[in-house]
Amino acid sequence: MTASPPVVQLVGAGFAYEDGPAVLADVDFAVPEGRAIALLGRNGSGKTTLLRLLSGGLRCGSGALLLDGTEVAYDRKGLTRLRTTVQLVVQDPDDQLFAASVAQDVSFGPMNLGLPEEEVRLRVARALAALDITALADRPTHLLSYGQRKRAAIAGAVAMRPRVLIMDEPTAGLDPHGQERLLDALAGLREDGTTVVMATHDVDLALRWADEAALLSPEGLRTGPVDRLLGDHDLLDAARLRRPWGTSVGRLLRAHGLLPDGAPEPRTPEELDAWAATLVPGAPGVSGRS
Ligand SMILES: Nc1ncnc2c1ncn2[C@@H]1O[C@H](COP(=O)(O)OP(=O)(O)OP(=O)(O)O)[C@@H](O)[C@H]1O
Ligand SMILES: [Mg+2]
Repeated sequence: MTASPPVVQLVGAGFAYEDGPAVLADVDFAVPEGRAIALLGRNGSGKTTLLRLLSGGLRCGSGALLLDGTEVAYDRKGLTRLRTTVQLVVQDPDDQLFAASVAQDVSFGPMNLGLPEEEVRLRVARALAALDITALADRPTHLLSYGQRKRAAIAGAVAMRPRVLIMDEPTAGLDPHGQERLLDALAGLREDGTTVVMATHDVDLALRWADEAALLSPEGLRTGPVDRLLGDHDLLDAARLRRPWGTSVGRLLRAHGLLPDGAPEPRTPEELDAWAATLVPGAPGVSGRS
């Protein structure tokens, strides 16, 4: 049996805005089905540009975009095929929301797919519930808070049930509860088989949530398992990214001879707690009590 090709993939992609310098050059970026991929990089490194190339909003100046292994044609048919597979939630919700109410906005995409009214209603209800904004269904989008608008924009993409959900800094501006709700919603989508790509500045979130990381640095795009990439402090320094909390703690524990070589570093306080509990057999973890 041959492995199926990535759902979407940029091959040798280069891009420059009109009259601007090259933003991306010779980028290879594969999104295999079922993965959770965090895209990291400092301001202006090209994350948004890369996500727009991947979702067809921008077209590569060189190289190609493949969907299920076949090059995407930028005609009506090709773009429809791409957009029913891949949904992008843009960085600024005000660039995405336009309908009078939240429910109308979220229903727009599914209605455009020509789905029966009942199916549209069901999808909208589920997407609103997943983002914890059911109570906002009838509210005018322009009267919502920033975090609420952000969730409404994500709900609109979720209602399309894409195979690949791409989000540009979805947690920026969300409060801690909102972030956890979003991660819960994403976990539910992933259980249903949705592939998720997320641009973020939050290295701790990336380490905890993603399987793979893609890191834009001045040397280009580096991809790999998230713990390996975010454990490479030289690479993080070159990309001017902060070190994740977990790898810093793990490094300290190792330096003090507490964490054996080869033992995984904690990614969350809860993982640190579970590890600490193993040092004292019989002692329960404490993080649930704090
Ligand atoms: N429409 C545009 N026209 C010209 N240059 C642009 C345009 N959009 C972005 N750029 C430039 O392209 C580069 C990459 O921008 P991009 O928005 O992809 O970065 P980013 O990694 O998403 O940054 P941030 O973390 O601030 O969102 C930047 O130097 C930016 O100034
Ligand atoms: Mg951006």
